[in-house]
Amino acid sequence: MRKRQLAMLLSRLEGFKEPKAELEQYRTPGNVAAELLWLAASHGDIGGKLVADLGAGTGVLGIGAAVLGARKVYAVEKDREALRRAEENAERAGVRERMEFFEGDVSEFGLRVDTVVMNPPFGSQRPHADRPFLMKAFEIADVVYSIHLAKEGVREFVEKFAAESGFRVTHRVELPFEIPAQFPFHRKRIERVRVDVYRFQRERFGG
Ligand SMILES: C[S@@+](CC[C@H](N)C(=O)[O-])C[C@H]1O[C@@H](n2cnc3c(N)ncnc32)[C@H](O)[C@@H]1O
Repeated sequence: MRKRQLAMLLSRLEGFKEPKAELEQYRTPGNVAAELLWLAASHGDIGGKLVADLGAGTGVLGIGAAVLGARKVYAVEKDREALRRAEENAERAGVRERMEFFEGDVSEFGLRVDTVVMNPPFGSQRPHADRPFLMKAFEIADVVYSIHLAKEGVREFVEKFAAESGFRVTHRVELPFEIPAQFPFHRKRIERVRVDVYRFQRERFGG
């Protein structure tokens, strides 16, 4: 499969039925998800690996990881409706049998995995809503891929938080990210922001 085909497949998945603003339920555009997953696959972090998608929403990242050959993908999401949609999407994409669906807060997920992929809330509704996601990701995996706003303050927070958790940023790729109007407070038809896709790796000491 080529990156463009993956992007197309992911952008055709069903979106949120009734997106909830307080949970920042907007989906990762297919092209951005494909960039993240391609970076991960090219580093050997997907094929044959145990992967967790934290805040899986409608499943875009987790399903993409399964399509690229992950051994098993855990989709973790606190919103039941979204998780049901993710399950339907996985069924349609033909990867349902390699995915498990956990309904609950990311802080409650307790399994260790090889790789985390996630697009946490940017924190526009609740500042630092991405914090519990980063905390959990750094607890359960040695390699983490995550999407955050490409802003100086956010970069400082993310890099400092990673360093304090024993991780270093090995890659940061800046990309455009489109959010179609879906909440009453959205003023434009399409909100265009810039995001950073990060790859974090646990630092190894004494070895
Ligand atoms: C920005 S959306 C991303 C959805 C999906 N991962 C994607 O890339 O399209 C963030 C998702 O995290 C979920 N979420 C927010 N806070 C959460 C929490 N504390 N625990 C679990 N899921 C959460 C939301 O319901 C939403 O589906």
